[in-house]
Amino acid sequence: MSEFAQLTFDENTIQLPVVRGSEKEIAVDISKLRGQSGLITLDRGFKNTGATHSAITFLDGEKGILRYRGYAIEELAEKASFAEVSYLLIYGELPTVDRLSWYNNSIVHHTLVHENMKSFFSAFPLGAHPMGMLSAMVSTLSTFYPGSQSSNRSMEDIELTIHRLIAKLPTLASQAYKHNVGLPTVYPQNELSYTENFLYMMFGLPTEEFEINPVVDSALNKLLILHADHEQNCSTATVRVVGSSQANLYSSISAGISALWGPLHGGANQAVIEMLEQIKLDGGDLQKWIEKAKDKSDSFRLMGFGHRVYKNFDPRARIIKKAADDVLEALGVDDPILDIAKELEQVALKDEYFVERGLYPNVDFYSGIIYRALGIPTEMFTVMFALGRLPGWIAQWKEMTENNDPIGRPRQVYTGPTERPFVEIDGR
Ligand code: ACO
Repeated sequence: MSEFAQLTFDENTIQLPVVRGSEKEIAVDISKLRGQSGLITLDRGFKNTGATHSAITFLDGEKGILRYRGYAIEELAEKASFAEVSYLLIYGELPTVDRLSWYNNSIVHHTLVHENMKSFFSAFPLGAHPMGMLSAMVSTLSTFYPGSQSSNRSMEDIELTIHRLIAKLPTLASQAYKHNVGLPTVYPQNELSYTENFLYMMFGLPTEEFEINPVVDSALNKLLILHADHEQNCSTATVRVVGSSQANLYSSISAGISALWGPLHGGANQAVIEMLEQIKLDGGDLQKWIEKAKDKSDSFRLMGFGHRVYKNFDPRARIIKKAADDVLEALGVDDPILDIAKELEQVALKDEYFVERGLYPNVDFYSGIIYRALGIPTEMFTVMFALGRLPGWIAQWKEMTENNDPIGRPRQVYTGPTERPFVEIDGR
């Protein structure tokens, strides 16, 4: 039975269809609103706008629920490998043993990047931020694979592009790091797993044996899974909007990487550590920093706190906080920054300002502490996030393409000057 919501404006009442999701979310479909009433909706920052139907990720911000394709994030983080989760997101179901082996096999055959890419890296200044390099290099991949640009690409072309991206992102990420610190590139070793290979390319050297620490590998696997998708967030919405113009997948993912870089989104993991270090250097007076965050005339925000959707707790942050304790203990690392983080969390959680606004630690609050313990430098934190988020971006792009979503093109309420005559400058 069809359901409708009524909207009355200017003595006219119109009926708008109501859409229900599989988890009881309810939406009013306003796609015909302007034609019926002349009205558009205004929702700055899309705080209340459903941009699409999606069957990939469900999250309930009030209850702190996050599921990929119906599977609870807690279970996936505990039991799955990142390869399984990335397959699940992209193909919709968990892989069988055979399909997982086919997928892994295909990925390892695409881990190398074209040697000419090296000349692009060498043109970046030493110390260039790895996120800037990563976004540029992913976009550059489209020039090496012109088939990805064709608007009548086949399903096989799309699958090949997807596998290439999943395979090459760790290679490019580690190359960005090596360039940033001035060390030689390490080529992938295809007998290693996805996460092992990344650790090898990051921390290995071409001439030396490299031993992978299983604690580090398992923590990395968990972190990548926790970041793998998060429905219509800023970078994913960017990937979908760019892709909706039928731009190729490399360019769409490159745009997503750029969107992720900002400190209000994925860049928060770097900003959190920088903030905690600043607090430590400043003598550790937490109350002073809490007051700064509450002061509306001060632009400082408590990085790693607050979330557009989670208003009670971020389930990923709970898993990561526990993982941070476990990893630091297993690696025998004593990080005073972790103590400051825990104290800051306690002080903020009792403060009326944070409680009233539902501001809790988000996924980025503790992830940087684990990355530090794993030996990953601060400027690489957001790159780590991008590695994790890649399958989610791809799954969302694929869904958008398969559903034939129309080009993303919001409207606006114009508030500038009305028409006025051009006045020539005297003596021009
Ligand atoms: N510190 C201090 N005050 C904050 C913070 C914070 N971290 N976050 C939100 N607030 C306040 C705002 O000033 C606002 O107060 P007001 O109602 O008095 O004006 C209120 O809480 C609501 O905040 P908004 O900015 O309107 O919420 P929005 O949903 O637009 O923003 C965001 C969410 C961007 C995550 C915000 O909480 C923030 O800037 N957090 C810090 C950056 C961060 O950790 N980002 C990572 C998010 S997780 C991710 O992207 C992976």
